[in-house]
Amino acid sequence: MEFLDLIKRNRSYRSFDESVKLSRETVLSFVECARLSASGGNNQPLKYCVSTKESTNALIQRETAWAAKLRPRVFPPEGHKPTAFVVICVDTDIQKDPPKADRDVGIAAQSILLAATAQGFGGLMIGAFNRQGVKEALKLSDNLEPALVIALGKPDETVLLEDASGSVDYYRDENDVHHVPKRPMSEIVMEV
Ligand SMILES: Cc1cc2nc3c(=O)[nH]c(=O)nc-3n(C[C@H](O)[C@H](O)[C@H](O)COP(=O)(O)O)c2cc1C
Repeated sequence: MEFLDLIKRNRSYRSFDESVKLSRETVLSFVECARLSASGGNNQPLKYCVSTKESTNALIQRETAWAAKLRPRVFPPEGHKPTAFVVICVDTDIQKDPPKADRDVGIAAQSILLAATAQGFGGLMIGAFNRQGVKEALKLSDNLEPALVIALGKPDETVLLEDASGSVDYYRDENDVHHVPKRPMSEIVMEV
């Protein structure tokens, strides 16, 4: 796949085909891509909790908030849940101040999602989640601070990119196609 196609295909998906299960081995292959990615000072303060078990997925799912802009609709729709989660945690034994690892978290998350997309899967980065709830649900040790949740699965919805003209709010049309407006190049590239 051309790199630009991979980037275009790597959208935020919120509905999945539950009959296509992601194996732990496959998700670990995505995490391997995060492991090999850049890290500030090469400190590598991140740890990854991988869940492919339905019961554990449900525990994580209930601590997350999806598509605030589409409320009152609820995502993922019943019967269309992700089949795996990765919770990216900051190990405070390595980085005492978790927000200082935010850039590493973003890079790792993008690597995981690009790897998933390249293999025909997809997912969603979730920053809106109950940190304490996830810590308790996964019985994380005190040194692990959850920073970002990634939902993964086989997407079964259509997401379209478009050039924004005004609002950048994502929206759904009458066919339930999800539209993602992106600011055009002319707006974001500064002459210096
Ligand atoms: C750091 C970060 C946190 C996000 N958190 C959430 C979230 O909590 N819930 C959600 O539904 N989407 C979340 N998203 C997905 C964004 O809504 C999505 O990236 C945006 O609508 C653009 O769509 P695209 O990813 O397809 O380009 C998050 C994205 C990023 C980068």
